[in-house]
Amino acid sequence: MLKVLAYNVREDEVAFFHEYADVYDLDVRCTIDPFSSESAYLAKGHDAVIIQGNCIADERALEIIHELGIKILTTRCAGYDKVDLDAAQRLGIRACNVPAYSPNAVSEYAVTLALACVRNLPLTIRRMHNYNFAIKGLIGREVKDMTIGIIGTGRIGYETIRNFRGFTDSILAYDLYPNDKVKEIADYVAFDELLKRSDIISIHCPLTKDNYHLIDKEAISKMKDGVILINTSRGALIDAQDVLDAVKSHKIAKAALDVYEYENGLYLKNNAGDDLEDQLLKELINHNNIIVTPHIAFYTDEAVKNMVQISLSNIAEIEKSGSSQNELI
Ligand code: NAI
Repeated sequence: MLKVLAYNVREDEVAFFHEYADVYDLDVRCTIDPFSSESAYLAKGHDAVIIQGNCIADERALEIIHELGIKILTTRCAGYDKVDLDAAQRLGIRACNVPAYSPNAVSEYAVTLALACVRNLPLTIRRMHNYNFAIKGLIGREVKDMTIGIIGTGRIGYETIRNFRGFTDSILAYDLYPNDKVKEIADYVAFDELLKRSDIISIHCPLTKDNYHLIDKEAISKMKDGVILINTSRGALIDAQDVLDAVKSHKIAKAALDVYEYENGLYLKNNAGDDLEDQLLKELINHNNIIVTPHIAFYTDEAVKNMVQISLSNIAEIEKSGSSQNELI
């Protein structure tokens, strides 16, 4: 029976790990430690490891688990930008992800953030906490009159378009590889045209070495005045300082950021009582026209179950048939 160590396991995942370890006939242990070169040694005595999106599977960490005899590494999330695939290949470690655990979880959250921005919900709630019931400055807009721009039209982008279609037919899309399914429900346009025409822009492409800070000062300057920007994909797809500056100057009316370039080590744990050293994050959180959430878009009961199940099935597939449909290399 293969021995598997799952890193960075939360309480809400433990029962699913037990349930699906039995289903896939695997001996699974869990640790709360995130995976990195510092915690890689914990994998001693195991055959495979399961990591999360905020774990760092860099060359050093992969070398350590390789020396320990680990043959398989799988994320239990879609993103794998923190896995050094070149190093994994060189070391002969089979690397997988969980590409499709529940695209609805993220897409519904992106729409939630967009609606909250459109109707000034964060400021409204902040005022209520101070028993300030005035509505001045809280006037909203109606999504039916707005144009939505979706960057990245894979699984999550497609569902997000479907969800926004409940509000408006005016949906623009941009992807390096346009697909026919999306063409039926949105209009593909060039990147600059999407920036120019969209009232709400929602990002759903993966972070790659080619799109670091895709949304920076220059891209923002091409957007409509008063645009709403939603990022539930990866923090480094935007230059958060440029976004903050643009919100301050009202070029961007509202921004909602579920992901943050420097979130590692901060997000997914309770930092209450600690002084936040990251001044940029502090400013983003405290700005009335910016929503910041702690990488929570994926977090539904359905998605968590799927993530655990599929990560274990990746390992079981490789063990039984020699390959997995979710292999990244
Ligand atoms: P996917 O692989 O199904 O789709 C990604 C799409 O982006 C593809 O159509 C691809 O052609 C396109 N793309 C790649 N590079 C691009 C670029 N530079 N410009 C425009 N389009 C580009 O991925 P899926 O499942 O839709 O996930 C998208 C991303 O969402 C993930 O990579 C991950 O970063 C993020 N995510 C965030 C979560 C959260 O909790 N906040 C949870 C799950 C995913």
